[in-house]
Amino acid sequence: MNKMLELEGISKTFFPGTPNAHKALDQLSLTLEPGDFVTVIGSNGAGKSTLFNVISGMFLPDEGRIRLDGRDITFEKEHKRAAVIGRIFQDTTKGTAPGMTIEENLALAYLRSTGKRSLMGITAADRKLFREKLAQLDLGLEDRLTAKVGLLSGGQRQAVALLMSTLVTPKLLLLDEHTAALDPATAEKVLDITRRIVREQKITCMMITHNISSALTLGNKTIMMDSGRIVLDLQGKERQEMTVPRLLELFKEKVSKDFDNDRTLLGQD
Ligand SMILES: Nc1ncnc2c1ncn2[C@@H]1O[C@H](COP(=O)(O)OP(=O)(O)O)[C@@H](O)[C@H]1O
Ligand SMILES: [Mg+2]
Repeated sequence: MNKMLELEGISKTFFPGTPNAHKALDQLSLTLEPGDFVTVIGSNGAGKSTLFNVISGMFLPDEGRIRLDGRDITFEKEHKRAAVIGRIFQDTTKGTAPGMTIEENLALAYLRSTGKRSLMGITAADRKLFREKLAQLDLGLEDRLTAKVGLLSGGQRQAVALLMSTLVTPKLLLLDEHTAALDPATAEKVLDITRRIVREQKITCMMITHNISSALTLGNKTIMMDSGRIVLDLQGKERQEMTVPRLLELFKEKVSKDFDNDRTLLGQD
């Protein structure tokens, strides 16, 4: 079976050849099997979001190759990758179109991933699917198909964004601190929804989080980044037995500094 994601020696330098040159990704390699759910942690500026930007095609890497499900997508355009790579950001206004209704947002996402050409192609059966998927969120949104998304709370918008990214199962789902802007109870709810969707659809997923405790409990692998590199790659028994204090200790050993993400949460969100 194909690997789902293969990153080989990815480097990215911002402002190359200037005094501000900064190597955000440094020869980074990573392989994900289909169905892997990897949590990503690291200090501020470690290169986590840049890694997602390179995978989703917002920036091209200076060096290295990216393969998705066996296909080399290193130079593929961002919009083309967007049909198979879902992405949710911390900013709850980014994933949805506020002036459009819930139904229109879902329909647009559906068009993007199915290759259907216009909203005219959306059938009654599709609408039924939208309603069912919304009902599963358990947020009462199935009765608000024609409400403008701009009127929803941050948590509801993240839930709709998650649905949009997964209506058609993506090859890869990238979550960049997607619950960090939510209040603790809502964050927990959106994480539950995330966990359920990823499990049911067996989605290969990467989730950046500043919550070290959820990094160790969600998914099946954890990577720790620093200075554009993966400094720790945990899975299996080693991961099961890992504790938050031990992980922070390991970080200190690996990079000779404290884990300095000012938003790092050691316990539950
Ligand atoms: N578009 C950009 N232009 C210039 N520098 C950038 C850009 N994006 C990120 N960087 C720099 O690259 C480094 C890694 O940033 P980022 O990937 O956002 O870190 P993280 O998500 O781990 O906090 C930082 O030093 C940041 O300032
Ligand atoms: Mg970031």
